[in-house]
Amino acid sequence: MRFPPAFLDEIRDRVPISQVIGTRVAWDRKKTNASRGDYWACCPFHGEKSPSFHCEDKKGRYHCFGCSVSGDHFKFLTELDGMSFPEAVEKIAEMAGVPMPVRDEAQERREKERASLTDVMEMATAFFQERLQSAEGAKARAYLRDRGLTPATQQSFRLGYAPDSRNALKEHLAAKGVPKADIEACGLVRHGDDIPVSYDWFRDRIMFPIPDSRGKIIAFGGRALAPDALAKYMNSPETELFHKGNVLYNFARARRAIAKGGTVIAVEGYMDVIALAQAGFENAVAPLGTALTENQLELLWRMAPEPVLCFDGDQAGLKAAWRAADLALPSAQTDRRARFALLPEGKDPDDLVKAEGPDAFRAVLADARPLDELLWMRETAGGVFDTPERRAELRKRLRELTGRIRDESVRYYYQQTMDERERNFFGSQRSVRQGRQDWKPGQGKTPVPGGQFAKGGAAGGRAAITESLGRSALVKRAGEGMSVREATIIVALVNHPALIDENFAHVEFLDLANSDLRKLHAAILDAMAHDAADERGAVIATIERAGCSSIWERAVELIKRARQWPALETAALDDARDAFNQAMHLQRSARTLHRELKQAQAALDADPSDENFRHLVEIQAQFNDVQATEALIEGFGVSSGRVGRV
Ligand code: UTP
Ligand code: MN
Repeated sequence: MRFPPAFLDEIRDRVPISQVIGTRVAWDRKKTNASRGDYWACCPFHGEKSPSFHCEDKKGRYHCFGCSVSGDHFKFLTELDGMSFPEAVEKIAEMAGVPMPVRDEAQERREKERASLTDVMEMATAFFQERLQSAEGAKARAYLRDRGLTPATQQSFRLGYAPDSRNALKEHLAAKGVPKADIEACGLVRHGDDIPVSYDWFRDRIMFPIPDSRGKIIAFGGRALAPDALAKYMNSPETELFHKGNVLYNFARARRAIAKGGTVIAVEGYMDVIALAQAGFENAVAPLGTALTENQLELLWRMAPEPVLCFDGDQAGLKAAWRAADLALPSAQTDRRARFALLPEGKDPDDLVKAEGPDAFRAVLADARPLDELLWMRETAGGVFDTPERRAELRKRLRELTGRIRDESVRYYYQQTMDERERNFFGSQRSVRQGRQDWKPGQGKTPVPGGQFAKGGAAGGRAAITESLGRSALVKRAGEGMSVREATIIVALVNHPALIDENFAHVEFLDLANSDLRKLHAAILDAMAHDAADERGAVIATIERAGCSSIWERAVELIKRARQWPALETAALDDARDAFNQAMHLQRSARTLHRELKQAQAALDADPSDENFRHLVEIQAQFNDVQATEALIEGFGVSSGRVGRV
């Protein structure tokens, strides 16, 4: 019978191992330190004169430095006394004064059945592996080679090939004496009342064996070779062994890898897991063709406190990320966190490491965002919060979200964090007047207490802020480089000329910092003047005539990198309009602030009074807000070095 592990642990814990071993050996008085639970004796497994056999109660293990035997309570009894395992368990249970568990026969029968089914799955795995190396498997081998999987990788994931036959596997297993019922119970054939003769489930597919947490094969994924196959991937059906929502592909290997350090990475596909392993990331797992389930999330948390969940960098990927965030949120705890990474659009991890190498994937991981940030982004990105009602609405939504967190303390800090983000986002004028906030460029948006400002600006504080302003990206980079915000405005206008028409007056007086974008703006104005601004092709033609094609390409490239899809040609006009309005809104504040900031700085230079200083601080704080908003819009694409060009 199989004993519940908790039972074995309990009896092992109750009986000091020295007590078990002490009945068979005489402890060496000199070396032994009984008060520390540290015992030495001459080894009972090999003859010796000086004691090199050691056991330690705290660890519950013994080890001989002479002959290298080692083990726990049960092993000692089975190896030295030749007891069977159940006998050893019974003996230790008796010493512990714990009754033996009652036998659950139904449970035992199920376990036996499962054991025989995993044997069958193992036979099937070996069969597929062997077929891959046969003549029949030539095409499949070529396919795997083309996809860049080395033979070593193929072997370590035990990849195989299911031949294009209705009964190759079925007959192979039958010839080995596997009962028909077992083949069916393993989900290896299609069968049923309406199927007169059962036939192989997987045909002409690359086979990915799916191991359980102990490494036993419990199912398969099969990938079609033909690019136009009806189903690219097919999985085993649900069986006694396999419940796909409870399994993660590569769980056992990843867990072993994580034991050496690092966290677990969840990606979407089998191929991603394998390509990542080949590229040196052995800690990746994948769900099996469905969105991540709650059970799978639990499995991730069992592996590491802060798994990184990877999603495609497109709208569908973002949606999937949000879904996973909603799933994780209620269970958020100090040791149940999550980070979210978005891949460049149109690439999965497999494509990425193949095209750009492991460092590109490392960069994606490094850019992963924590759960609270993801949720904040979802609730605010693209929104306009220009009235008290809209702000109240946002706050309500955030409260509702954080309210779902079950852990009281985590819930409290989420609420605090969200409140803080809200304050930073909507302006901190009040707090600046009270001297509570300062912002240090280079330290991101972290507000730090700056009490000296409230006292009228101590000399040290003032020097710090003017100096940091001088270094600030806000001032130094003005006019250099393109900001995502300005690029969004121009790219949205060109791609969706209806916006030009709708915003005629604004477009005409657009105030741009970037000289390249100003050239594109001039081309748009030119097109407007020639009545060529109501059609995208015509606007693009004007840009080309103006010799600005490469600037245009750069702007579009920036938009893609920043994942501002709504500005692209493929977006719906409504989405483009939202993005445009948001960017315009920010542009106006940023440009105005930029002018005011310059004036304030000049004023302070001319007259270093406290009042001029406070004015500068105030404008700088407002800048901070615009930056925060901008970072939001740039979303995942942002890194601190890129924000804040005005
Ligand atoms: P993908 O379509 O992203 O495939 O599906 P992939 O893993 O990148 O595979 P390649 O690179 O095209 O070979 C991701 C996962 O979704 C499931 C599979 O588990 C796959 O690994 N899936 C996909 C299915 O179950 N059925 C399908 O038809 C497609
Ligand atoms: Mn792929």
